[in-house]
This record gives sequence, structure tokens and C-alpha cells, in this order.
Amino acid sequence: MKVIEKAPAKINLGLDVICKRPDGYHDLSMVMTSIDLNDYVTIETREDDQFIFESNDHRIPTNENNDVLKAAKLIQDKYGIKGGASIYLEKKIPVCAGLGGGSTDAAAAIRAFDQLWNLKMTDDEMVAIAKQIGSDVPYCLFGGMAHVSGMGDVVSHLKKSPSFWVVLVKPNFGISTRTIFPEIDCESISHVDIISLINAIESNQYQEMLSYMGNSLEDISINRKPFIQKLKDRMTKSGADIALMSGSGPTVFGICQTEKKADRVVNSMRGFCKEVYKVRSL
Ligand code: C5P
Repeated sequence: MKVIEKAPAKINLGLDVICKRPDGYHDLSMVMTSIDLNDYVTIETREDDQFIFESNDHRIPTNENNDVLKAAKLIQDKYGIKGGASIYLEKKIPVCAGLGGGSTDAAAAIRAFDQLWNLKMTDDEMVAIAKQIGSDVPYCLFGGMAHVSGMGDVVSHLKKSPSFWVVLVKPNFGISTRTIFPEIDCESISHVDIISLINAIESNQYQEMLSYMGNSLEDISINRKPFIQKLKDRMTKSGADIALMSGSGPTVFGICQTEKKADRVVNSMRGFCKEVYKVRSL
């Protein structure tokens, strides 16, 4: 049997770091939305108990740092599965980009193994596996426009949302999230009014949504890589309604209400960066 699962990228319309927890992680309050830029996870049953992993992107690790393999092994152990699987990951989402690529692949793998092995896992069972892999994985199980809080494991979907175009620009360097969080000082960091952002989104107020968007991690990442600020400036100058960094960066995204505007932004950014994408919010 063969199962193919789509794994959409995410952007953060809002990311607020609330405080550091005793376990060293941070309590967050975020608004995330899925976008139409996708990886694909394909799995096929094997008679032996091995997992064979291949990808079109040779930078993806094949050891214990591979989140898709982590998901496979956690499920195999928990449900006492005898067989293994051949796994193929078609990568389109840039890596170390702030777009949740590794997390959405892991979430797609959980959904795919649930089908392949006919486990009929409940949402809570899937979230329990997802939490062991990474903080963004629980959100990625369900995707869509959501308020994500706690460590990233409390997900509630928003009732309504304006639709818009997204232009993404990924510079030719990556940023590892785990190197950004230790630099946070929760007292001095700039905070984002996530509740007002949610109200604006749910009442379909596009302009108001733009005015409340923000990312508490931006200053730290821009301090390390000032090129991110240049991308933001260029994007707003070329007509985007707003430009913001996603996650811990370095990808910058611009929001446009019309496709015509998004096309103009894409053309302008192409002269500046190789990796530029125009996608829809999902
Ligand atoms: O959970 P994940 O491995 O994706 O997190 C990567 C890094 O981000 C962690 O090592 C931690 O430094 C930081 N992090 C955090 N608080 C969160 C989520 C992530 O401090 N809620």
C-alpha cells in the first residue's frame, strides 16, 4: 500500500514571546496560517521492519535528526507495528527558513502512517506524538489559520479570515531557531498584540489585520543578519501591503490583497534574491 500526504508551509502573521519557562522553552502566542507551498511525503509498506528514507534534497539528514523518521519510529514503537516503510520526501519548502518545513513534513508523516497502518489515531494521540518531535508539529497536523499558544502545543482554529496573496523571499542563508531563542530577554523584547490581531482576522478586517501583525523575534534575527531588514524595506517599497519575517527567519513575506500587486512585488524582488515565491494563503 502507498500513501501520499501534502505538507504545506506556514507563515506567522503574529509571533509573541511571552516568557521563559522553567524547562528552558518559551511560552508563545502566535497566529499561523498555511500557505500553498508544499512538500510531499510518500510512504509504502515494506515486509521487513526497516525504514528506508530518500529525498530529492540531499541536505536532509538521514539520521536521528530527520523528523520524518522520528515520527515513523515513535509510531512504530507506540503501536507495536512489525513492518517498516519506504519513505520519499519531495522537498519544495526551503530549509532553515522559518516556514516550518521540517515540522510540516513530520506532521504529514504522522497522518500518512496513521493511514498506512490503519491506526485510526484520535487528534489527541496524534498531538502526543507530534509534541515529542517539535513545538510547531502539533499545529502542522491540522494547519489553516490558527491561534497557537503554550509551547506551540495549544492550537485553536480561527473562525474566519481575509484571503490574500503572499510573496516569500528566502535569502541564501539559513537561521537555526535554537540559536535565536537563547538571546531573548522577555522584559525588553517588543511584544505583539495577538488578541487584537485575532479579532481583526475573525472580523475580516484586512487593514486592521495588517496593523496588528508583528514578530517578537525580528529584532534578534535582524541584528544577526541585517540583510533581512533590507529585504523588508525593499518589499514594502515595491508595493507589498506589509512585509514581515516568518518564525525566527530568515524568510521575509509580503502580503498583498490583489494578485496584480503580488506580481509587481515578485518582479521587483527577483532582482534582489534568487528564491522568490508567490503563493495564496490557504
Ligand atoms: O521544538 P523545536 O525543536 O522546534 O524548537 C527549536 C528551539 O526553539 C528549541 O531548542 C528552543 O530553543 C526554542 N523554542 C523555545 N520555546 C518554544 C519553542 C521553541 O524556546 N516554545
